[in-house]
Amino acid sequence: MTPGRPPVLSVRGLSVRFLLPGGHRVAAVTDAHFDVAPGECLALIGESGCGKSVLASALLGLLPANAQTAGSALLGDLDLLTAGERTLARTVRGRRIGLIPQSPAAHLTPVRTIRSQTEEVVARLTGVRGRAALRAAAERAAERAGFPTDHLDRHPHELSGGLAQRAATALALIGDAPLLLADEPTTGLDRDLVDRTVDELRRHVDADRALLMITHDLAAAERVADRVAVMYAGRIVELSEADAFFGSPGPRHPYSRGLLEALPERSFLPIPGLPPELGSLPDGCAFAPRCAHATDICTTLPPLTGPVACHRPLPAPARTPEAIRA
Ligand SMILES: Nc1ncnc2c1ncn2[C@@H]1O[C@H](COP(=O)(O)OP(=O)(O)OP(=O)(O)O)[C@@H](O)[C@H]1O
Ligand code: SF4
Ligand SMILES: [Mg+2]
Repeated sequence: MTPGRPPVLSVRGLSVRFLLPGGHRVAAVTDAHFDVAPGECLALIGESGCGKSVLASALLGLLPANAQTAGSALLGDLDLLTAGERTLARTVRGRRIGLIPQSPAAHLTPVRTIRSQTEEVVARLTGVRGRAALRAAAERAAERAGFPTDHLDRHPHELSGGLAQRAATALALIGDAPLLLADEPTTGLDRDLVDRTVDELRRHVDADRALLMITHDLAAAERVADRVAVMYAGRIVELSEADAFFGSPGPRHPYSRGLLEALPERSFLPIPGLPPELGSLPDGCAFAPRCAHATDICTTLPPLTGPVACHRPLPAPARTPEAIRA
């Protein structure tokens, strides 16, 4: 992050609880703290169900009625958690925050062609007018996201998952919003399209805009991210520079280390066990039942104040004599 420049997004103590019948509560996000600066990509990673999309929905005011939030999420001086629906709909979604949703098919309007939806967003966000100009701008938007222009006259149900993903990416990029929130933007894409999409997202960042990218794809995260936030059971347990995370010294939290080591090109060893239910979290570290480093102290909650929320963070691996000489 460039020192002295205010972040585009500043999240402090963000928590989301879902209230269920019978008084049950699901702690989907707990006490998240992070910033995203202009010209920066923060990748948010973690296993399925850990709260990544709920966090994204909280930022966009898209949580269901049974959700309660706490904390703050400042976009400039607007707190996204307390802003009214009118403000969010008119000035935030699309204009100040572009969204690539996790389920693109559900976000596309089923009864209209991709061309008509793209032209409408172009007109609304860029002010382009006139049939020919709108048509040309929609085609440029499609090409930017690798969406084939000869498919623009199709309806969403006529698209494969990967094509729907690219249509949603095209729509999200149109406004060149200062913050892009991409929730699994590479799902359903072949590797070369993953790289192409990620490189387009990187261009967004290199134009001094911010990107919060939620992903399971650690190779994509490594390609695009400046920093990495690792989420486990609703908490951000590690926040690291991407170079240090993917290179040396590597992740310091045992869970993050396990995620990385599970990759086929690394040890290919899955983390044993399953994440806990967010409706019945233990008092101490939620990763303890799966952690080879757990001791008695782990029955108390590790503080979330530093870059690694762990009582016994892994040491940086010792450098080999060869590495020291290099
Ligand atoms: N409306 C709701 N009511 C109760 N619980 C919910 C609701 N919406 C989401 N949850 C719970 O919140 C948790 C986090 O869900 P979320 O969709 O954020 O996971 P995720 O990290 O995005 O997973 P994935 O990687 O599979 O997309 C899940 O346990 C989910 O069941
Ligand atoms: S706090 Fe304890 S159980 Fe949790 S990750 Fe660290 S060492 Fe493992
Ligand atoms: Mg999700």
